[in-house]
Amino acid sequence: MVTLIRIFRYTALYPWHAATTLGLAVVGTLLVVVLPAVTQEFIDQVIPDKQLDRIIPLAALGIGAIAARQLISMGRNLCNSAFEQRIIHDLRRELYEKIQRLPLHWFDKQPTGDIMHRVAADVPAMERVIVGAIDQGLSGLLQFCAVLGYLLWLNPGLALLTVAPLPVVAIATRLYQKLAEPRYKAVSEASSTLNSVLHDNVAGIRQIKAYTVEPEEAERFGSASTTVLRAQMNVVKANAFIWPFVSLVAESGIVVTIAFGAWWITTGETTLGVLSAVLMSWGLLYDPISRINPLTQLFVSGMVAGKRIFSILDLDEEEDLVTGTRPETLRGHVRFEDVRFSYEKSSSRPTLDAINLEALPGQTIAFVGPTGAGKSTILALLTRFYEVDAGRILLDDEPLAGISKEWLRDRIGYVTQDSFLFDATIRDNLLLAKPDATESEIWEALRAANAESFVSKLDGGLAATPGERGTRLSGGERQRLSIARALLKNPPILLLDEATSAVDNETEQLIQEALERLRSERTAFVIAHRLSTVRAADRIYVLEGGRIVESGKHEELIVQNGLYERLCSAGLGTQEK
Ligand SMILES: Nc1ncnc2c1ncn2[C@@H]1O[C@H](COP(=O)(O)OP(=O)(O)OP(=O)(O)O)[C@@H](O)[C@H]1O
Ligand SMILES: [Mg+2]
Repeated sequence: MVTLIRIFRYTALYPWHAATTLGLAVVGTLLVVVLPAVTQEFIDQVIPDKQLDRIIPLAALGIGAIAARQLISMGRNLCNSAFEQRIIHDLRRELYEKIQRLPLHWFDKQPTGDIMHRVAADVPAMERVIVGAIDQGLSGLLQFCAVLGYLLWLNPGLALLTVAPLPVVAIATRLYQKLAEPRYKAVSEASSTLNSVLHDNVAGIRQIKAYTVEPEEAERFGSASTTVLRAQMNVVKANAFIWPFVSLVAESGIVVTIAFGAWWITTGETTLGVLSAVLMSWGLLYDPISRINPLTQLFVSGMVAGKRIFSILDLDEEEDLVTGTRPETLRGHVRFEDVRFSYEKSSSRPTLDAINLEALPGQTIAFVGPTGAGKSTILALLTRFYEVDAGRILLDDEPLAGISKEWLRDRIGYVTQDSFLFDATIRDNLLLAKPDATESEIWEALRAANAESFVSKLDGGLAATPGERGTRLSGGERQRLSIARALLKNPPILLLDEATSAVDNETEQLIQEALERLRSERTAFVIAHRLSTVRAADRIYVLEGGRIVESGKHEELIVQNGLYERLCSAGLGTQEK
């Protein structure tokens, strides 16, 4: 019920559309009784009294009523569609904007395909409840009341006979709702899972081909698809069972009505014209009832969709971007004080623990350590993608937690480990960092990132599209574009998560030069897999299992014969000659 009320609140956004839809439905509905009335008039008056002069006006009245109904139905369709599409549009946007404001840890757990299903399929399904209810439900109810009123006026006895089966229909419908809701829920969940598998497999098609697991993946997709099939069949079975039963009861009613009508005509209690009008009206009376079936389906599936949408809309958002202080100046002095952090709040071993470190303005700090040590996590905390569990991070002696995220992120250039590119032109990918950058600024950044030559050779240059996630570019090219993006932003603080992917020596040299340019005169945090980068750092922190185990300059650390020395000799410098 709560869900239903929430769904209907959206009509308040378009009161005029809702009112017009309703108004047209009312007028259109009231016109339906004209036809039975005309028929009765023909049979009871025109035929026995041979009123030939009334034939044409009565026929014209009947046709006029039909024409008027069709005209109204045209207007109704137009108005409904506009109403429907507007609400879908609003809801879709509301949902997307909400999703964008959700904290990263939600995305860590939510399959992409499921999110896509909610926006693409649940939104229209939920919205159909509104237009369905107003256009079909309310107008159906109205038609029912109008026809019933007319029948009662014609002949109360026959009228009561026609509605006698209704209590059974009502009970059956209620039963159906109970039966169908869990089944629709199962369909929605199964479709979401199917979407997730599909999304995952398309994104991972290279891995699938490389490991020749096509049969296994086809099997996995097939089994997800089978689950959808079974869930759909369960819905179909529920529908198949209930509705023929309802029709049987309802249609038996008409036979009883005819029988009693025949009897009452012979006893003179009613006329043939009245019985004809009742029989014609029977269809009009049961037309709304036959609509209960699709309408109930619509309602049940819409409520399920609504619940899935509201479950997202009700989630706690991230603190907004603008809340917090916006310091006048930024020197770039960063300190971590006893920072502890876990992705899984329930886990006993934190991802990062007792992290103390300091970067003076303009310094380059390097992190090294085995994979999974927590290096990327430190950068994620610095951008406030996640919040620390204990301890604090200070920026120019001000707690990071009190600074506006927008202000902070505007001042940070973050070259992430995966060099993600959007499926847009290279220019648009770069403009992300600085929307008002001029053409010459863009080329300057590309030059500094040693990306100029390959971009100018691309078909279309800056207008070329690197494909989804940048798949049409090489790893080294993607990385250099990411660096160019950070350069274009020209941020006072730089976070660099070096990709481990091996690139040839020449490319490596080009990237190295680009990084040097990017690092100069700003506070830089670099996760390094290359000895040359590490050597140039003012201070190196060695991480292991979420803790800092060693720190100092390269020369100091090497002589300690600890983890750093082992990492260096084992492969930190695999790229080095
Ligand atoms: N989004 C996440 N949700 C849950 N756990 C995560 C998440 N990201 C990382 N982890 C876990 O946190 C730990 C630290 O990960 P992190 O990415 O910081 O490692 P890293 O030092 O950058 O490793 P690499 O050198 O491989 O990039 C790992 O054990 C990892 O499994
Ligand atoms: Mg990492």
